[in-house]
Amino acid sequence: MAKDLVEFRNLKTYFYTEDGIVKAVNDVSFKIKEGETVGIVGESGCGKSVTSMSLMRLIPNPPGKIVDGDILFEGKSILSLSEEEMREVRGNKMSVIFQEPMTSLNPVFTVGYQISEAVILHQKLSKEEARKKAIEMIKLVGIPRAEEIVDAYPHELSGGMRQRIMIAMALSCNPRLLIADEPTTALDVTIQAQILDLMRNIKEKLNTSIMLITHDLGVIAEMADYVVVMYAGKVVEEASVETLFKKPMHPYTTGLLKSKPALNQDEKRLYSIPGQVPNPIGMPDNCYFCERCEKAMDICKKQIPPLIEIEPGHKVACWLYEEGK
Ligand SMILES: Nc1ncnc2c1ncn2[C@@H]1O[C@H](COP(=O)(O)OP(=O)(O)OP(=O)(O)O)[C@@H](O)[C@H]1O
Ligand code: SF4
Ligand SMILES: [Mg+2]
Repeated sequence: MAKDLVEFRNLKTYFYTEDGIVKAVNDVSFKIKEGETVGIVGESGCGKSVTSMSLMRLIPNPPGKIVDGDILFEGKSILSLSEEEMREVRGNKMSVIFQEPMTSLNPVFTVGYQISEAVILHQKLSKEEARKKAIEMIKLVGIPRAEEIVDAYPHELSGGMRQRIMIAMALSCNPRLLIADEPTTALDVTIQAQILDLMRNIKEKLNTSIMLITHDLGVIAEMADYVVVMYAGKVVEEASVETLFKKPMHPYTTGLLKSKPALNQDEKRLYSIPGQVPNPIGMPDNCYFCERCEKAMDICKKQIPPLIEIEPGHKVACWLYEEGK
């Protein structure tokens, strides 16, 4: 059995704003095993990015703060690490790729220089060795003519190539965990498929775990081993990818699945869950989904349903499944 690489334990990350406290991540627990891809899915504002930023310890403070819970990485609490130890972890053990590569790539340096810098910093290679490594990484992410591309500037490359360069940078230190926050959302469908293929290959080759954040269930179906569904700062369902798609239990998950476009479907007729994610400030003690739920009962308006294990490896937070517990 693969070991746990990451464990979120009752994590609470809040933002203290002028309007009130935003409970962006509100008592979240789940694990990522070695070599596993865990998909985090949910509508905009559900706390997906804040969960990953908490893991990287990159929550802007103020206004944000991890107020409770713990995050274990390789069995050790990352919340107890010094800033310097944390920088080591961020550079060597976990890497992140974002939706928009231009924000992570520096326009005034060649891509080779930028990959080399990351390698020199974290692996203490000479300049020449680092350049070789950069070319090797550019090849690994499937960009042809790596020897030329190494000297190109970001604006000379296509969007898909820039995304590959960013993946090359993220992987140049052989991280144990790759955090991919909407890695393909800005790309067109063909390039998106290529980047996903690339991530899958790399995971197999390097046994990297991936925390894959997306609102796109199609991407989850293709990539994830395990899925965590978040709603308004909470995990409402989690299961293996097969179980989640075959046997979704939470009404929110079923809604998300209904809104997943089928191939050839007319986008305009796409179902979307009625209503909106509630304002995260001053949330009442009831099921956060009750305003939008067709199956809401009395108890749903009075108490928050706990996340319980319905069958091995399948958890759900919904009063529909509480009977007989
Ligand atoms: N710096 C901040 N100050 C105040 N509130 C914040 C800050 N960053 C995030 N939030 C709030 O935290 C909540 C969760 O945001 P988060 O970015 O994690 O959502 P998300 O699930 O990643 O959404 P998206 O799919 O749009 O990226 C939101 O309500 C957001 O407004
Ligand atoms: S707890 Fe109630 S309101 Fe919430 S999702 Fe389940 S049935 Fe719907
Ligand atoms: Mg986000």
